[in-house]
Amino acid sequence: VNISHDAGRVSASLPTGETVDILLYGATVISWKDRAGNEKLWLSEAAKLDGSKAIRGGIPIVFPVFGQAPDHAATSKLPQHGFARTSRWELLGKSTSESAGMSDSSVKLDFGLSSASLSDDVKALWPYTFSIIYSVTLSQEGLATSIVITNDGEEAFESQVLLHTYLRIEDITTVSVTGLEGSAYIDKVDGAKLKSQSSTISITQETDRVYTPSTDPSQPVVITSNGEQVFSVVRDGLRDVVVWNPWTDKAMSMPDFEPKDGYKNMLCVEAGSVRDWTKLEPGEAFEGGQTISY
Ligand code: BG6
Repeated sequence: VNISHDAGRVSASLPTGETVDILLYGATVISWKDRAGNEKLWLSEAAKLDGSKAIRGGIPIVFPVFGQAPDHAATSKLPQHGFARTSRWELLGKSTSESAGMSDSSVKLDFGLSSASLSDDVKALWPYTFSIIYSVTLSQEGLATSIVITNDGEEAFESQVLLHTYLRIEDITTVSVTGLEGSAYIDKVDGAKLKSQSSTISITQETDRVYTPSTDPSQPVVITSNGEQVFSVVRDGLRDVVVWNPWTDKAMSMPDFEPKDGYKNMLCVEAGSVRDWTKLEPGEAFEGGQTISY
């Protein structure tokens, strides 16, 4: 297992060829490749990688608010999707497991963010004392990302968290998402109406939905292309699944979304806990994660 770490980026590769790249800015995974070198994540060609804006693509971390929450007093002042994706994280540690036959090597990279390292501006918007450990594990089976959020302060706080994963796909018109049949969802492009998913999902227009499946989170959400599985997402402790594709007009409206027809090659399937608020009392922790395989 090979790991390199420079000022702003951590990269790891397995002896069999799989690779992952993570920016300390936002602890954003910006690339994940299989052993043949095929990129599994979508990253905008106009994504700002210099720390001036949240990364358009990869896996940004949404915390402590999903979207904006004007009605939730404690988080109402925060920017869209919170500050985790625009804060600089630190690399806490790396661990590898090697095997003689190479067949089950893996690498786990741990990143940390805490209230102590936030800028005063951000602290003023959200004054709670917390620490987060975010772990990215690359193996031949796939990529696992998990998060532990701890309340280190004397005051309870409520938060939301989401792993905003941009999956790279070949052609959106051939894609179906299964595993969410029967789930209730909030349709953000139709006045936040509460609906129920009757069958497999196909994407034929701007899609922005927050699903809360009643099934166990370990039941995979499967993305197929022409009927063949291209990704499977298994959640751990994360109740909700956001399905997002900006389609034509929304892609046009985002300056950092390039190419403009890139919406054909991506689908966000985002594991999170965002429909409700998770309350952490002093000393309590919340744990959640996802494993993406193909
Ligand atoms: C999704 C939201 O998770 O993120 C969408 O459901 C939003 O409503 C999208 O448009 C992208 O957000 P942003 O802030 O990265 O442009």
